[in-house]
Amino acid sequence: MKTSSPEPIFYSVPGVTLTIPVYTGHNLFNKLKSLFSFDTFSSVLVLVDENVNKYWDKKILEVLGKDTFYLVIKAAEKNKSLTTVEKIWTSLSQNRLDRRSLVINIGGGMACDIGAFAASTFMRGIPFVNVPTTLLAQADAAIGGKTGFNFNGLKNTIGTFASPLAIISDTAFLTTLPQREFNSGFAEIIKHAIIADAQLFADLGKKKLTNLKGKELDKILSQSTQIKCDIVKKDPYEKSDRKKLNFGHTVGHAIEMACKNKLLHGEAVAIGMIAEARVSFLSGHLSENKFRDIEKLLSNANLPIQITATNKKLIFEKMLSDKKNVSQQIKWVFLEDIGKVMVDVVLPTEIINEGLNYILK
Ligand SMILES: NC(=O)c1ccc[n+]([C@@H]2O[C@H](COP(=O)([O-])OP(=O)(O)OC[C@H]3O[C@@H](n4cnc5c(N)ncnc54)[C@H](O)[C@@H]3O)[C@@H](O)[C@H]2O)c1
Ligand SMILES: [Zn+2]
Repeated sequence: MKTSSPEPIFYSVPGVTLTIPVYTGHNLFNKLKSLFSFDTFSSVLVLVDENVNKYWDKKILEVLGKDTFYLVIKAAEKNKSLTTVEKIWTSLSQNRLDRRSLVINIGGGMACDIGAFAASTFMRGIPFVNVPTTLLAQADAAIGGKTGFNFNGLKNTIGTFASPLAIISDTAFLTTLPQREFNSGFAEIIKHAIIADAQLFADLGKKKLTNLKGKELDKILSQSTQIKCDIVKKDPYEKSDRKKLNFGHTVGHAIEMACKNKLLHGEAVAIGMIAEARVSFLSGHLSENKFRDIEKLLSNANLPIQITATNKKLIFEKMLSDKKNVSQQIKWVFLEDIGKVMVDVVLPTEIINEGLNYILK
C-alpha cells in the first residue's frame, strides 16, 4: 500500500493561484499534518460529525493534538441548516479564529458542505481542509469547491464556491460506515464511470461492489476522483462540462424531495440514472444493451432502481423547480454511449413521461 508517500490527484481553479490536492488511500489521516502546511496556522478548529465522533474521537485527538479547538455538529440532512451554520460561526468567533487559522471538516458530505460554507464566509473566508468520511463524500461531495446548506425547504440554496487547501480521503473511515451508506456512495462512482470512463464501467461490472475493500477499493476511489477532478478542472463554475456530473440528478433530486428524504442521496441518484438512461435509450441514442448494463450494475451494487411513487406529478413539479433549469425547461444530461454524454438537452414531454413511468413500480 502506498501510504509512505501518498501521491495526490490535483485540480485547480482558473484565476485562483491554488491547486487543490486530493489524497486518497488507507490510513492517510494519520499523516494529515505532513500533507499540507499544518504548522503554519495560528489556531485550528476541527469540526466533526457526531456519528464520526463516536467511533473516531480518540484517533482525531491523537492525530491533531489537544491544542485544537473541537466542535461536534449534529448529523443528518435536516441539520444542514442556518442554525448549525450559526453554531459554527459562534464557535469560530468565541475561539477567536482569524484569517491565519484553519478549519478541518471531518464527516460526510453534510459536514464537509456546511463546515466549508461556514469557513468560506467567516471573516470573508478562512482556510479549510476537508476530510470526507463517507464514500459519497470521498467520491464526490468533498471535491469541487461547492459549499452550502439547505434553506426554506430547498437543498443547498445558500452556498459559495470555495476551495479547500487539501482533501484527505482516508478509506479507513469507511470501516465504520453503515452498509447502506456505503452502497449509496457507489452510485456516484458508477455515475463517474457512466459519464466518462467505459473501461472503469466494465471493470466495476466484474466486482462485487458491496464488499469492496482494501487496495481494490482504494484504486477505484482514486480512478473516480481523477474523473471528478478532470471535469472540475475544465469547468469549475459549471458553465459546460461540469454539467455532466448532474447525470441522474435531474430526476434524482426530484425523487429525493418527493420522497421527503426517505431515500439516501445515492439511492435517489441511482433511480434517477435509470430514468435518464432510459430517456437516452428511448430517444434512439443509447443502445438497449448498454441501458441494460447500467441497470444491472446499479442493482448489483444493491441500489434501488425503482420507486413506488404514487406521485409522479410531484416528481415533475420538483424537476421543474430545479435551480439549474432555465425558463422552466428541464435540461437533461443525455447518454449517447457509456463514457459519452451531451448536456443541456431538451426532450419532448412524452419521452420524459415514458422514462418516468419506467422507474415507477
Ligand atoms: N458539495 C458537493 O458538490 C456535493 C455533492 C454531492 C452531495 N453533496 C451533499 O452531501 C450530502 C450527503 O453526503 P453523505 O452521503 O456523505 O451524507 P452525510 O454526511 O449525511 O453522512 C451520512 C451518514 O453517515 C454518518 N457517517 C459519516 N461518516 C461516517 C463514518 N465514517 N462512520 C460511521 N458513520 C458515518 C453520518 O453521521 C450520517 O449519519 C448532502 O448534503 C448533499 O447535498 C454535496
Ligand atoms: Zn450527487
